[in-house]
Amino acid sequence: MSFLARVEGELRLDGMPLADVAREFGTPCYVYSRSAIESAYREFDQGLGGVDHLVCYAVKASSNLAILDALARLGAGFDIVSGGELARVLAAGGSAERVIFSGVGKSEAEMRTALAAGIKCFNVESEPELERLDALAGAMGLSAPVSLRINPDVDARTHPYISTGLAGNKFGIPHGRALEAYARAARLSNLRITGIGCHIGSQILETAPLDEALERVMELVAALAGEGIALAHVDLGGGLGIRYRDEVAPDIRGYCERLARRFAGSGFQLLLEPGRAIVGSAGVLLTRVEYLKLDKAKRFAVVDASMSELLRPALYESWHDIVPVEPSRAAPATYDVVGPVCESADVLGVDRSLAIREGDLLAILSAGAYGMAMASNYNSRPRPPEVIIDRGRALQVRARETIASLHVLERRLPDA
Ligand code: LLP
Repeated sequence: MSFLARVEGELRLDGMPLADVAREFGTPCYVYSRSAIESAYREFDQGLGGVDHLVCYAVKASSNLAILDALARLGAGFDIVSGGELARVLAAGGSAERVIFSGVGKSEAEMRTALAAGIKCFNVESEPELERLDALAGAMGLSAPVSLRINPDVDARTHPYISTGLAGNKFGIPHGRALEAYARAARLSNLRITGIGCHIGSQILETAPLDEALERVMELVAALAGEGIALAHVDLGGGLGIRYRDEVAPDIRGYCERLARRFAGSGFQLLLEPGRAIVGSAGVLLTRVEYLKLDKAKRFAVVDASMSELLRPALYESWHDIVPVEPSRAAPATYDVVGPVCESADVLGVDRSLAIREGDLLAILSAGAYGMAMASNYNSRPRPPEVIIDRGRALQVRARETIASLHVLERRLPDA
């Protein structure tokens, strides 16, 4: 089901005219559909319905409290990678027992906070991390639940910057060292082994690499059982891709139902960590055309959004569809859609055919994941507001940053 539709030429998200949202909250502005987020979550949750499972939304994809709140109300778990994300989950009403903590560089402070909160488990990514966690848990008189993230050495066949499951990546414990790492964990008295996991990359369009990773993990599960190490859960990470241009996105429901059949009767709880597949298609970035620059070898549409608001095209050369929000009588022409930031990489779309005039509104689609989450203040640009369409209302769930707020943590030099 598409939540984005054109009605008499005007683009609507969940029935709400996006031009009205832009009028009320200004541009640039992120807009999300609550029902799109919820229905994507339900594809996972219902698809896995046949087995004990927990869908742990990867908070890094989009971490607004309202989005976390909506998912927490549906019973979601959360995959976090920092103390900041843990605080957000708790502030949004999520419960610590449903939180799993991934990441290669967990600090002592982050580990202590997560131990005190009572999270479901730490996805440990190295042997030194096991030692640190054991020591901290011991000092706090606690036992730390651990799941080792195994790097299965499987090619996710996605962009190299977002591929994480190959031997050359920094992530996880090498498959070949897994048994030794578990044996080491079992010897540490303040750790409690609860599971095993992997995450091979992001924007994955074929499920074959995910299946391959699963089988690599299940080989280890069997070998561990032989060593007397019993696990409660298996975590297959996130990574399912979405359609940005003309890709065929994997069928979430079908994939999950297949997993549920694979795990039926296994006794394991199955965990997934999807981010993009839950929020990616549910959000757009609204922007206004400032200038049409027609005097160069190329035509440029300079808009009021930039790589500061949406970094993905500059960082990964990724494609986002860019479409007019309202009908225009302008003649179509081919433009590079660029922002005001002083970088040649500040391009949101190359060679786009658009019928636009200065002042027109554009929507940059599929911007719900890794959009606002990766926004910065580069060029001293206040980050944009976030609006969620919720049961026919447009709710501002994050205000536009003010220019004054940008230097509130700074100070000038003393006079003497
Ligand atoms: N679990 C772990 C351990 C992860 O590292 C990630 C994403 C996820 C789950 C969620 O993956 P997803 O389901 O969203 O693919 N900034 C990049 C994506 C980076 C993904 C990092 N890790 C982008 O904009 O494409």
